[in-house]
Amino acid sequence: MMKAAAIHQYGPPEVVRVDEFERPTPTAEEIRIRVHATTVSAADSRLRAMRMPLGFALLARLAFGVFRPRKPILGLEFAGVVDAIGPNVDKFEVGDRVFGLCSTMGCHAEFVCVTQHAAVALIPANLTFEEAVALPFGGSTALHFFRKAELRAGESVLVNGASGAVGVAMVQIARHAGAVVTAVCSDANASTMRSLGAAEVIDYNRDDFAAQPCRYDVIVDTVGNAPYSRCRKVLKERGRLLAVSANLPQILFSPLWAMLSGRRVFGGPAGEHAEDMRVLAARAAAGDLKAVVDSRFPFQGIVNAHRRVDSGRKVGSVVLILR
Ligand SMILES: NC(=O)c1ccc[n+]([C@@H]2O[C@H](COP(=O)([O-])OP(=O)(O)OC[C@H]3O[C@@H](n4cnc5c(N)ncnc54)[C@H](OP(=O)(O)O)[C@@H]3O)[C@@H](O)[C@H]2O)c1
Repeated sequence: MMKAAAIHQYGPPEVVRVDEFERPTPTAEEIRIRVHATTVSAADSRLRAMRMPLGFALLARLAFGVFRPRKPILGLEFAGVVDAIGPNVDKFEVGDRVFGLCSTMGCHAEFVCVTQHAAVALIPANLTFEEAVALPFGGSTALHFFRKAELRAGESVLVNGASGAVGVAMVQIARHAGAVVTAVCSDANASTMRSLGAAEVIDYNRDDFAAQPCRYDVIVDTVGNAPYSRCRKVLKERGRLLAVSANLPQILFSPLWAMLSGRRVFGGPAGEHAEDMRVLAARAAAGDLKAVVDSRFPFQGIVNAHRRVDSGRKVGSVVLILR
């Protein structure tokens, strides 16, 4: 048996309960990870509350369960130790320290199984489980969207919502690519943004980035309040808007509208790839990517972890410690 946090209905943080579940057994191609740390991400919070961007509510219910969640155990990110492997596994060994992303969820548990080909990689020796687990969600999203945008050195990038889990990865990965980064967040997080590589910081409570004279090659919106109509004037010709948190009408119509003026809009879900995990591990090992941990909660404190994420104020990742 194992302990796992489950939701049997959609609702506030209090619907999450830690309970006993069957311990999973790895199939031929799977590794089983004894989870040391996981996160409560913005995606976990959205799913738990069934709080979706405009146009996605019905699709989300069809995918995850119309009246109640079909899969009760949430959790996208894991860091832990491989404790069992299937007979055909040749990429990992029992005892390996690994971290990764599991879009089928299930990481809010003491054990999780993923195939050896999933988005999983070895944890660099200089990283703790708590640090490693803060990398996959934001990091893989940033790698995916900057690949789409074909970001080049010397370009200017504005990250709206720079202090969230996605934002802190966007700022660092853009900076590492040689871009000049402007972070948009509240004043309290300005020094963190500068320490991660932002050249400029705009406090959204004081200034509207879309009403400034500066123009950008790439704008990243992780908040969902910067559609193309708002960004148009501050996006350069041939500029790209990375609509990480877009609603369905924006995803459907903005690319067409933008294309008419030579700009591009990219939205939709980021995929999950083992290679991205290896890139994140290598960058973190070299000190080019820092894990930003907002807060740590014991596993039994998962309801409070959800409350923290629901506040909309977390800086980086909310980490759950299992061991
Ligand atoms: N498309 C995809 O594949 C994909 C992948 C991952 C995530 N996402 C989505 O991306 C979104 C962000 O995820 P996340 O994990 O980064 O969220 P998060 O960590 O919860 O973001 C919280 C941050 O948003 C900032 N914020 C709130 N209101 C703001 C405003 N008006 N202007 C600027 N910043 C504001 C806050 O900064 P302050 O405290 O400084 O105000 C806070 O640090 C979520 O909606 C998630 O579902 C999409």
